[in-house]
Amino acid sequence: MASSGSADLVIVANRLPVDRVPLGDGTAEWRRSPGGLVTAIEPVMRANDGSWIGWPGGTESDLEPFEDEGLDLVPITLTQQEVEEFYEGFANGTLWPLYHDVAAKPEFHREWWDAYVVVNRRFAEQAAAAASEGATVWVHDYQLQLVPQMLRELRPDLRIGFYLHIPFPPTELFQQLPWRRQLLEGLLGADLVGFQLPGAAQNFVRLVRQRVGHKTHRDLVYLPDGRTVRAAAFPISIDAKGFEDLARSEEVEKRAAEIRDALGNPSRIFLGVDRLDYTKGIYARLRAYSELLAQGDLDVEDAVFVQVATPSREQVEQYRILRDDIDRLVGRINGDLGRIGRPAISYMHASYPREEMAALYRAADIMVVTPYRDGMNLVAKEYVACRFDNDGALVLSEFAGAADELRQAWLVNPYDINGMKSALLEAYRADEKERTRRMKAMRKTVSQNDVAAWADSFLAELTAVRPSHGKTVRPARRS
Ligand code: ADP
Ligand code: F6P
Repeated sequence: MASSGSADLVIVANRLPVDRVPLGDGTAEWRRSPGGLVTAIEPVMRANDGSWIGWPGGTESDLEPFEDEGLDLVPITLTQQEVEEFYEGFANGTLWPLYHDVAAKPEFHREWWDAYVVVNRRFAEQAAAAASEGATVWVHDYQLQLVPQMLRELRPDLRIGFYLHIPFPPTELFQQLPWRRQLLEGLLGADLVGFQLPGAAQNFVRLVRQRVGHKTHRDLVYLPDGRTVRAAAFPISIDAKGFEDLARSEEVEKRAAEIRDALGNPSRIFLGVDRLDYTKGIYARLRAYSELLAQGDLDVEDAVFVQVATPSREQVEQYRILRDDIDRLVGRINGDLGRIGRPAISYMHASYPREEMAALYRAADIMVVTPYRDGMNLVAKEYVACRFDNDGALVLSEFAGAADELRQAWLVNPYDINGMKSALLEAYRADEKERTRRMKAMRKTVSQNDVAAWADSFLAELTAVRPSHGKTVRPARRS
């Protein structure tokens, strides 16, 4: 057993909450990392004492553990080759598209897999060194699926949880992976494996039974060594009160008015906010909107679509292609349909502070969230949390995890352009009573199921003692 550190709670995630961005003059600054994982975990870490192990986004090898606004952060170093093979390669060129319904074609390369194993081992070793005797270690997301098993081998005394922030694929897709058994066994190192939705947990248990050969019963897996692993859904959420408080602040209210003003005070503002990712359905959404303008159902004198696209994974080819495609589409739509001072689409390729995000949510009348597949989608919940006036409309893909909870949104199939057009128009034309009825119900759901409740329920389940199952189970079959 490796020797222990001093943290009673250790978060292990590919990202730290801040990214180290070189400034070109030899210095660097720390900027908030993009994405839902950081949005969700940061408030949990603020409420608990613990260490956060993650990658700060570059290839510097001399970074020491440091404190950032009260959080203890432990940076993990990746070499340039590991960034290419582990992060851009296996994590985002193989697993990401495969786990998102093959929205792009996944690539399978053995050297990418080798890098994934090496980097996962580094995270596991760092976690083993940081955790105190009997500590809780919570491992996050698809980049680190081997860490639970590696960590258990190093530190059998730990309580280990794993949470997958993205969808877990249907069994037929998962089985394409040449390393499917290793990934399942990696996850089985955890005591509790959490997913966004119940269907994902069921897929996982089925695959464990079929591919690894362990005995299972409902959401439990019985391992030959006596351990029981539970797989269950814990739908993630946001700091709803934090967002609402921000939205209510004078500064944000003022900024929202400035945004509306700068857009020429149209009667309706549509808003999309996404990482620039091919799973988010940005292209089809903008096409649907432009067709409504072209047909005369909407008018640029009266409505504008604000699309914020956060730079993401810019070295991965599929993301570069997407960026070019969206640039071209926005240019064409504005060229064809915009007028002087009245663009059809107001497009920003940038990252913003939380205050600006809240101001955008306050300024927007219709929030449009149309991913082809999304684990949860926190943007949809953030919008709802900011609408303390019970007004505003949400158009939401039925393939976002959030659609399971936000049933009162205008739900759409993002592959169906005509269906999306109808939903956009319905949301545009809905009267105040209808908007309020829907928004009130969604706000109740979001405020009752916030990120603190999510973390509490996961950690409570992880801490619940599960004694050795005492069953005689057959040894695992290999496949
Ligand atoms: P994902 O994890 O796939 O990026 P989510 O919708 O779950 O998608 O989470 C995105 C998070 O990133 C949200 O908290 C959102 O506020 C934040 N975000 C998205 N775009 C931006 C942006 N341009 N600037 C700052 N934060 C952003
Ligand atoms: O929620 C999915 C996710 O991949 C997180 O794991 C990650 O923090 C976020 O999106 C942003 O992606 P990346 O870390 O690759 O920039």
